[in-house]
Amino acid sequence: MATAETTASAAPRPAGAAAPAAATFRIWRGQANAGSFADFNATISEGMVVLDVVHQIQATQAPDLAVRWNCKAGKCGSCSAEINGQPKLMCMTRLNTLDLTQPVTVEPMRTFPHVRDLVTDVSWNFRVKQRIAPFHPKPAGADGVWRESQADVDRPQEFRKCIECFLCQDVCHVLREHNKFAEFIGPRFLIHIAQLEMNPLDDGNRLAALKDDFNIGYCNITKCCTKVCPEGIAITDNAIIPLKERVVDEFYDPVRRLFRVFR
Ligand code: SF4
Ligand code: SF4
Ligand code: FES
Repeated sequence: MATAETTASAAPRPAGAAAPAAATFRIWRGQANAGSFADFNATISEGMVVLDVVHQIQATQAPDLAVRWNCKAGKCGSCSAEINGQPKLMCMTRLNTLDLTQPVTVEPMRTFPHVRDLVTDVSWNFRVKQRIAPFHPKPAGADGVWRESQADVDRPQEFRKCIECFLCQDVCHVLREHNKFAEFIGPRFLIHIAQLEMNPLDDGNRLAALKDDFNIGYCNITKCCTKVCPEGIAITDNAIIPLKERVVDEFYDPVRRLFRVFR
């Protein structure tokens, strides 16, 4: 078993080209950020995804290789990793989208504390969620019924598709490069707040927290989060920008400020 410390380039296999029968997978091994890449030879067949290769390596060469997964269907959000340097779900990354003539690197998400091999500790995300005021219903109408328009139902629907894979958190430079874990909640939780704030039946107000505790102003709309979301959620355009507009309206609109002073 050889070791290496480089990241391979990736170019998908041209359509119609036969899959190589074997490929090299360069997988991160080690614990708590102390580790290195190890090369494994994998037998390739049509239709395989990266998670299949990891399972094959577990079964034949490295039974102690740690990996987190559950559904193998892109729905549980457990198998997040960096494949050839790109944040992706291992179970949804088909081998025919990778250049198998080069070693394929598979490493854990680098933004979160490393546990072992491909597994990271994502518990910070769950602590963040606990800091966000949950849904709080408005009183029902006089007839005891809550009503909302179909448009209001539809608008936050895409945010409900989130599978909490945390790939968007992994790629956000405010967390990854600037380590603002105490001050910034990241794109996953900005869409969670958008889902709550856009619900007309909710009477919570999270705008002050967004400005002062969760520092939405740190987001400079690079859209990196949107690009990696496996659910195709328009995180920046449909959640973050509307939330930023609400914060600006609430706290920086001079007419509203004047109104607040007199109120
Ligand atoms: S758009 Fe904002 S939240 Fe998304 S990755 Fe960039 S800085 Fe982070
Ligand atoms: S918004 Fe997308 S990338 Fe972020 S946690 Fe949810 S599904 Fe994953
Ligand atoms: S194993 Fe569930 S999303 Fe990949």
